[in-house]
Parts: sequence; C-alpha cells; structure tokens
Amino acid sequence: MSTESPLIQSMRTAVAAAPTDVPLRLHLAELLLGEGLSEAAVAETAVALQHAPGDAGARALMMRAMGLPAPAAEKPGSVPAPAPQEPRAQEPAPEVPDAPAPPTGFDWAAAENEVADAVPPRFVTSGPTSTAPEAPLAADGGGEPGDATAWEVDTPGTVTLADVGGMEEIKERLEAAFLTPMRNPELGRLYGKSLRGGLLMYGPPGCGKTFIARAVAGELGASFMSVSINDVLDMWMGNSERNMHEVFETARRQAPCVLFLDEVDALGAKRSRMQHGGMRNTVNQLLTELDGVGGANEGVFVLAATNVPWDVDIALRRPGRLDRTLLVLPPDAPAREAILRYHLRDRPIESVDLGKLVKVTEDLSGADLAHLCESASERALLDSTRTGVVRMINMKDLLGAAKEVRPSTDPWFASARNVAMFANEGGMYDELLAYLKRKRKL
Ligand SMILES: Nc1ncnc2c1ncn2[C@@H]1O[C@H](COP(=O)(O)OP(=O)(O)OP(=O)(O)O)[C@@H](O)[C@H]1O
Ligand SMILES: [Mg+2]
Repeated sequence: MSTESPLIQSMRTAVAAAPTDVPLRLHLAELLLGEGLSEAAVAETAVALQHAPGDAGARALMMRAMGLPAPAAEKPGSVPAPAPQEPRAQEPAPEVPDAPAPPTGFDWAAAENEVADAVPPRFVTSGPTSTAPEAPLAADGGGEPGDATAWEVDTPGTVTLADVGGMEEIKERLEAAFLTPMRNPELGRLYGKSLRGGLLMYGPPGCGKTFIARAVAGELGASFMSVSINDVLDMWMGNSERNMHEVFETARRQAPCVLFLDEVDALGAKRSRMQHGGMRNTVNQLLTELDGVGGANEGVFVLAATNVPWDVDIALRRPGRLDRTLLVLPPDAPAREAILRYHLRDRPIESVDLGKLVKVTEDLSGADLAHLCESASERALLDSTRTGVVRMINMKDLLGAAKEVRPSTDPWFASARNVAMFANEGGMYDELLAYLKRKRKL
C-alpha cells in the first residue's frame, strides 16, 4: 500500500498488535479517512463495530466514511460529528429500501442487527476439520536490511512449529535433522549427527519457507536473522565477501541464532553476470563461513531457501554444506485451515464454514489464501458501500473469491517438472517427483 503515510503504517502495526482496541482502530480509520482512503476507513470501522456494535463514535465514523450525512443527534461525550463534508463524487446517494426515511438517511437498526448477528457464530462447522486453535501466527516479517551494513536480528520470537498448521512430514524432518540434535547434543554425537552445514528449503513461492524458518528459531528459543543473498551482493569488488562475513559475525554475536539465508540461488554461477571473479569469491566466502573454523559457528543454525534449487551453486550442495534439502509444498488441508483462520481473525465474518473452504482451496499457496481473504473482504465492502448497510463477510464472498483465485504455483510446477524428470542428479528431486506423481502432474 504505497499510498499510505508512515503514520498510518505505524498505526496499522499498533492495531495489529492490539486488534480488539476499538478506540485505537477508530483512530486509524479516522486517519485513513483524512487521507481520502475511505474504503480502507470503512473496513477498519466495520471491524471496530464488530467489537463494539453500539459505539456511537464508530457509527458516526462509518457514516462519514461511507459518504453519508452525519447522524442528527449525537450523544454528548461521543466523538463529535465532523463539519459537513463537501459532497463526494460517489454513486447515487445510497437509499435504504423500505425504511421510513429516518432523518439520518441511514438505517442504523438494520446495520446494527447485521453486526450484532455476526458476533457469536464466526465459524460454523460441517464435516471433520481439525480443531486448530486460532493460532497467533506472526505475519511474515521478512528481514529487510535496507542498509547493508546493519543486519537486523529478531529477538527470540513466539512463533513455533505448533503455529505451523499441518505439514507433518516437514515438522518430522526438521525435528530429526535439526531440533533433536540441537536440544540434545550428546545424543546427536552418539548418532554421529554432525551439526555442520545447513538445510536447504525449496519449493514454489509463498508456501511457507520463511515462516517455517522463523518457527524453527522460536522452537529453539533462538534469535532469528533473515538475510536475502541479493542484499549481501554488492557490485564493488570485495564488498560482497565483507558483507557475507558481517552477516555471519552478527549471527555469531547473537547465538543461539537461526540464520535464514533467502534466495541462495542468487549466488548460482548460472545467474551470475560476473561469473569469473566476483561471484566465485562470494561463494567461497560463504563456504568458509559455513565451515566456521574452530567452532565459531557454535549456536548458529543455517537454514537456506530458494525457489529455484536448480540454480543453486553446486559447491554449496556438497556434504557438510547445504547438503540436505527440504521440499516445502503448497499447504495441506490442516495448513490451509490454519492460514485461513489467521487471515480471517480480525475481519468481520459470519457463519464461515472453514472445512468447506479448505476443500475448495487445494493447490493454493499461503500467499494465494491471503489474497483470497482480501478479495472476499473487498466484495463485502463494496456491497456495504453500495447498499449503505454494513454487512459481514460471508461464505458467498469467500467461495466467490475462491473461484477467481488461480494457484500461483502452477508455473513453478511446470518448470520444476522438467528439472525433476531430466536432471534428478543424486535423487535430489525424488520427493518432488513423488508429489507430482501423486498429483498426476507427471
Ligand atoms: N503451514 C502453515 N501454517 C500457517 N501459516 C502458513 C503455513 N504455511 C504458510 N503459511 C503462511 O503463508 C504465508 C506465506 O509463507 P512464506 O512467506 O513463509 O512463504 P515462502 O515460501 O517464504 O515464500 P517466498 O518463496 O515467496 O519467499 C506466510 O505469511 C505464512 O503465515
Ligand atoms: Mg520467503
């Protein structure tokens, strides 16, 4: 949302941290309205009304946001009605059908009914769905080191594997490859489990690689450092190596720390335009850092990720380096349920049958599911604006949106299929082949 001011952005963060704080949310809505973002203001006010259906300030704000005349009589102490606004360029003034035209021009009783109704049954059930709690999934923070010299480290977070819905196989692999030896070094040594090197996650975009890495950090009570290799690379000779070293040094200072290296394919020789020289040195620097002489990497756990594993430099895939791979596929049913639940948590919804929604969203990525919830909200919002009656987001909106969202992972599978079939060296893509076969995509 590039049109939103920094003030609004920080208000959004505050509201996300305290989703039930009605005055705070109304303040945000007020700011949005002030900047002419009336649809966004309506959306926020609708959520506020859901938490506090009778709030006079919220009602007044909703009317203004919807471009309706202010209510005639304001109770003292409530948010003062604003000065009458210039008539807005808008659809014909919404009229409330068969209401005896109250002086306010808006049928509050109906709107309130609508809102009040939605409060108890947010979700309905049909058929067996898992009973995942409304987990506090953290939004994907994604490190954004705008300044290449200051690498950001998050203190130990609260997201753990329990927040990762479904994906049991992945959790088991992580447990065996990473977590158990980490929690129990003695046992790890007994089984000769080396903690050198790291794990390379790969798969289509938006399916949870970053999220899983963050959850692993939470699981270990470790800090989390997310670095995109593209931010490490620098056109000046020697700077990329220096940056790479700095990244590892920062992680070491913060140990225990999960160092998440995203987009490691950027180091791949195939992609490099400075193939000779620059990039080679950077790869070598990374190898040196991974080897961590003299136990330097004690407490530093490297997780790497890529959408294009076939572009990853083979030197990085050798034993002791990023030698183990983990395929992260589109979310399975329990994962989809967790993701949908998360994205609907703060929206005004009524009678949503998650089980049904999970069934019709197969193959959608986490990012697609977020988009689905967004466009369902838009439908309900547009409707509310059109009719002047605030209504909740319902199954019809969600199913309608589901029909329109196409799996964004299709192109990825199209290219991955060829690689898996014709370049499956060392069985690296066995897992992917098995999935494609199961999906009849081979
Ligand atoms: N199993 C899951 N349980 C709960 N949420 C999930 C799960 N999988 C993915 N998500 C959600 O899906 C969103 C997208 O995931 P994420 O950003 O981690 O994908 P990614 O694989 O890193 O994507 P990219 O390749 O674009 O970097 C996240 O916001 C996350 O909250
Ligand atoms: Mg990611």
